[in-house]
Amino acid sequence: MNRSVVITGANGFVGRNVGLFLSKNGFRTTGLVRKGRTIHFGKAITTGTLDEPSLVQKIRGSDALLHFIGRGKQTVDSEYDLVNVTLVKNAVALCKKAKIKKIIYISGLGVAKSSTLGYFISKYRAEQELVHSGLDYTIFRASYVIGRDDPLSKNLQQQMKKGQVIIPGSGNYRFQPIFIDDVSRVIIKALEEKKFSNKIIDLVGPQVVSYNAFVKEFLHEKKTKVKKIDFEKAYHDALHNKGPFGVDDLGIMVGDYVGNHKKLASLARMKFTRYQEILKLGSVMT
Ligand SMILES: NC(=O)c1ccc[n+]([C@@H]2O[C@H](COP(=O)([O-])OP(=O)(O)OC[C@H]3O[C@@H](n4cnc5c(N)ncnc54)[C@H](OP(=O)(O)O)[C@@H]3O)[C@@H](O)[C@H]2O)c1
Repeated sequence: MNRSVVITGANGFVGRNVGLFLSKNGFRTTGLVRKGRTIHFGKAITTGTLDEPSLVQKIRGSDALLHFIGRGKQTVDSEYDLVNVTLVKNAVALCKKAKIKKIIYISGLGVAKSSTLGYFISKYRAEQELVHSGLDYTIFRASYVIGRDDPLSKNLQQQMKKGQVIIPGSGNYRFQPIFIDDVSRVIIKALEEKKFSNKIIDLVGPQVVSYNAFVKEFLHEKKTKVKKIDFEKAYHDALHNKGPFGVDDLGIMVGDYVGNHKKLASLARMKFTRYQEILKLGSVMT
């Protein structure tokens, strides 16, 4: 019988892409979404905070839950503590009630006990909920995930529409983009192979690239102006909720976080896509 997975955040970038990929690859998928949202794979179930008693019997006995709810920007109505921590606690409780033994979670590259960034602190606390849950967990600490309408590409496209792309500060800070389809493949491995159990693994692509270089290749031959702005100005705009970046986006960017691709590659034993190929495929430019 096909294995069954439940996906929270099923209408988000990661959720909708992984859900579709798993559905195409023989998994029975159920997406949990908030009221009014639609999904394009599997069966949809509406939920608010993952703790409605009626939810339990609808997903009872599924093989795994993929928890893809999360926010990288905090507002008065959407605080990290609720979105990134409480909903993980609720996901763990839901798994226990519904007899789901495996949970997969996407944390952030750079998350550590010593984190001082609000987003990372919430992700660290979420990770700890999973580590101490008694469930079989796999936590992936992701760099920027790219492909088909990812948040980074959408942000750059929105800036392009306004006529210029902004680079805060030097732009020399680096990251390690990973293709969403590679993320889906890794997740299938984590669902199938015991060696992913109870591990925290960097989810990073095969190349380290500076923000400058990535933006240049993203724009390719387009004539869009690239404007470097003082970091202080970018931070001021972020604090006033203006401009293309949030406060924590800027923190992650200058954090210059790179991870251990070798460990991921040796666990997954698969070929990873280079980011230039993804950009060439046009799969990020919709
Ligand atoms: N994309 C990346 O490059 C990246 C990198 C590192 C880590 N991650 C992590 O991966 C996960 C998925 O990211 P993503 O890129 O798919 O983000 P996304 O496109 O913004 O999707 C976020 C999902 O979370 C749901 N959500 C947010 N607040 C909620 C709330 N209060 N209650 C219920 N659902 C809520 C959203 O539902 P609504 O539409 O109803 O708001 C949406 O389904 C997140 O935990 C993120 O931190 C992503």
